[in-house]
Amino acid sequence: MSLLEIRGLKKSFDGLEVLKDISLQVRQGEVLGIIGPSGSGKSTLLRCATGLETPDGGEIRYEGTFGLVFQNFNLFPHYSVMKNITDAPIKVQKRSREEVFAEARALLAKMGLSDKEDAYPYQLSGGQQQRISIARALAMNPDILFFDEPTSALDPELTGEILKVIRDLAAEHMTMVIVTHEMNFARNVADQIIFMDKGVIAQQGTPEEVFGSSNERMKEFLGKLGENL
Ligand SMILES: Nc1ncnc2c1ncn2[C@@H]1O[C@H](COP(=O)(O)OP(=O)(O)O)[C@@H](O)[C@H]1O
Ligand SMILES: [Mg+2]
Repeated sequence: MSLLEIRGLKKSFDGLEVLKDISLQVRQGEVLGIIGPSGSGKSTLLRCATGLETPDGGEIRYEGTFGLVFQNFNLFPHYSVMKNITDAPIKVQKRSREEVFAEARALLAKMGLSDKEDAYPYQLSGGQQQRISIARALAMNPDILFFDEPTSALDPELTGEILKVIRDLAAEHMTMVIVTHEMNFARNVADQIIFMDKGVIAQQGTPEEVFGSSNERMKEFLGKLGENL
C-alpha cells in the first residue's frame, strides 16, 4: 500500500522552477532516500510534501499522518525535553497526559536519554537535541517520518548516533523519507533512492541501480562526495 503518492509536483520561486514535474510513491514500511546536489530542490520537495510550502501544481495524496525532523532540530528552547515531546500530543491530539507521558518516557529510554527529561535544549549536545526531536516527531505516532539532512548540523562523531537511531527505526519498519548527504547510510538503509538534480528526478531505483548508474550527473555528484563513500 502506498502511504504517500506525489504526482506532477511543481514549484517555482520568483520565476525559478525549483521542482519540475516530480512524481514518487512511498509504500508502507519503505525507506526512501533522497540525494542530490545542494540547490537541487530536495528541501523544497519535503516542504511541499509536508505542507510547509504550497505547490504550484500537482497532487499529493497521503494515507495517514506524517512527522518531520529538521536539520537544525527546531526544539522549543524555553520548553524542557519532556514538554517538547509531550506538548503537541496533549494539546493538538488531545490525548491523555498519562498515556503521552508514559510513551514519551519509553521514547526517551529508546533514545538513551532517560536522564534528560527535565533538561532544556541548550543543556544538550547537538546529537542529543536531534534524538529529542526524533522522539518528539515519533510521539505523534506518524505513519511516515520525513528527515531533512538530519545529521548535517552535527559534528562527525555525533552523526553516528543519529544514523543508528534511524537505522533502528528502519529495522522496525518505520516508513521514512530521508534527505541525506551520507551516501553509505543511504545505500545501506534505503529501499529506494531518488537522485535529484536541478528540480527533476534524474535517477530513481534501488540503491544498487542508482549508485551503480552511469548517469553523468550522478557520477559527478558522487565524485565530489568521494571522501564519503
Ligand atoms: N523560500 C524560497 N524563496 C526563494 N527561493 C527558494 C526558497 N526556498 C528554496 N529556494 C531556492 O530553490 C532552490 C532549491 O532549494 P532547496 O529545495 O533548498 O534545495 P536543496 O535542499 O536540494 O539544497 C534553490 O535555488 C533555492 O535558492
Ligand atoms: Mg536542503
